[in-house]
Amino acid sequence: MLSNIKFRKILNDLKRRPEDAAKDLKISLKKINNILSNKSKLDFKTISQAVKIWPVNYGDFFSFYDDAKSGFKIMRSNESEKSKRIMNRGGKPYYLYKDTIMSKLSPFRPELITELAIVNNNKPNNSNVKYNNGHFLHQFTYFIGPVNFYYIENNKKKVAKMNTGDSMYISPYVCHSFTTRKNKKGILGKILALTYTDKLDNETLNELTVLGFNIAKKYRINLKNKYNSFWSNLENFFKNSSLSFKEFKRQTSLDLDKMKKRRKIPSDKIIKKLSVFLNINYREFFPPNNTVEVKVQKYSKSKKWYYPSINKKDYSFKELTNIPQLPYSRGYELTLLNDKKHKSYLDVPSHQYIYNLGPSKVNFIINSKKGILNPLDSIYIKPNNKHLFFKKGKLLVLRLGGKISGDSLYQLSMISENNLKKTINDNRPWFNK
Ligand SMILES: [Fe+2]
Repeated sequence: MLSNIKFRKILNDLKRRPEDAAKDLKISLKKINNILSNKSKLDFKTISQAVKIWPVNYGDFFSFYDDAKSGFKIMRSNESEKSKRIMNRGGKPYYLYKDTIMSKLSPFRPELITELAIVNNNKPNNSNVKYNNGHFLHQFTYFIGPVNFYYIENNKKKVAKMNTGDSMYISPYVCHSFTTRKNKKGILGKILALTYTDKLDNETLNELTVLGFNIAKKYRINLKNKYNSFWSNLENFFKNSSLSFKEFKRQTSLDLDKMKKRRKIPSDKIIKKLSVFLNINYREFFPPNNTVEVKVQKYSKSKKWYYPSINKKDYSFKELTNIPQLPYSRGYELTLLNDKKHKSYLDVPSHQYIYNLGPSKVNFIINSKKGILNPLDSIYIKPNNKHLFFKKGKLLVLRLGGKISGDSLYQLSMISENNLKKTINDNRPWFNK
């Protein structure tokens, strides 16, 4: 969607008054003013001219289309059904895919996949198992029925026997596959394969693609273990300030080279000194390490709690797989325990994907709008939209931090409420004449 607010922002950022923009773009001042006041639309010719002469990209002129204006968006099971398509592997039907809810705003790409290949052993090198090449998106998977999950870890093929309620996480580009285990009832296993982006998304990819592989790879710091991760991160900060450990020693008499050689992580006192010396927040010295590539979580070993409390059991939360390096990506099996309407609203600072696992339909209230989520329906709820579920039932929930988590959340929190409002709504010039 073209946006006059975006156009104003570009002019403000480039310190162009309307008359300057008119001159640069070789169009009339009247036209510029009409675009800014939304009386006329920004045309593609003007955008092309702007991209040609200003340090801006085409994407900068477009804003997001909101497809969940009421705070949520539902995909009914019959719509999912219509999206079904069979994927072959080795010339034979292997997966039956169905879409579930997706929104333009959310980082989810969730599919319900039926495993059409039936195996009669659990060997990871079964020739009937067709591994993929992995994909850019993270994947959280919830298992329904007798499903074998295959993956390649440290160049070794592995298999995990999964059942209803089990879950797994795989990081980008882990090769994987799924099949149904042969069973007496002849049930085909299913998975909810919820793929998503986190901080590395299409926008970061745009930047990396322009930089190219040889430059992009130089960014990488070594996160293999806590020593490597500490020192490699610290060296990066020194490099970014064109400072050396020698200079640090000259000024503080502390020998970082010696500590590094001894594979020691400096004491808290020294890290605080580093924090002052480099003028960097303390938390920046502790990047993640031992990052998880594959995690399998068995249902019976999952944590469980009641919400709002043990004395008022409106919901029970069963924690599904999650990993420390994605602190806002959380999966839950949410059981609704109260048949009557109650007041235990949920208010969650993340994008939520919710799928009704069945067999019963449940009621919801989101922003005082009432509705029903039938079995196999799925719903996306925008962050920070108060919501409530009631009537006994079972839901699968995946929460994702999206763009506003981690550092962007901290930076947003540093802006005053007033300025945040301005940041989002401002359509005025950056100064008053
Ligand atoms: Fe996948």
